[in-house]
Amino acid sequence: MNRKEFFAKVGFGAATVLLPACIAGLATSCSSNNEESTTAPTTVDFIIDISTGSLATDGGFLVSKNIVVARVDATTFLAVAAACTHEGTNVNYVSASKTFHCPNHGANFSSTGNHLNGPGTGNLKQYNVSLSGNSLRIYS
Ligand code: FES
Repeated sequence: MNRKEFFAKVGFGAATVLLPACIAGLATSCSSNNEESTTAPTTVDFIIDISTGSLATDGGFLVSKNIVVARVDATTFLAVAAACTHEGTNVNYVSASKTFHCPNHGANFSSTGNHLNGPGTGNLKQYNVSLSGNSLRIYS
């Protein structure tokens, strides 16, 4: 079998396998990636220990309960809904600019969750934070 014959057979075989899967909605590569939710958590009240892990270091961040929590410095923390308002990909904290960035299509949000640019139009919901010792409370 030469190269042309191989690709002709594989290409036809892949189409034969994927087409029915796409029609049935089974193949994720065929979907429009709408599986992630852009809905922000509403009633929120939980505590994170900041003495270890990502939040022990300035610029660190983590996602907990669909909220991205970021440490600006020892006394300043941010909390906004993690799901990008475009298609729901979790945003990352960018410490250099104190903003949130979506790695999927590049939307950017301010430290308070306001949409700055990129795809999507909505803002990320912002949550309250309160620090007591090493306990950071995130609440709505
Ligand atoms: S999912 Fe965030 S910019 Fe598209």
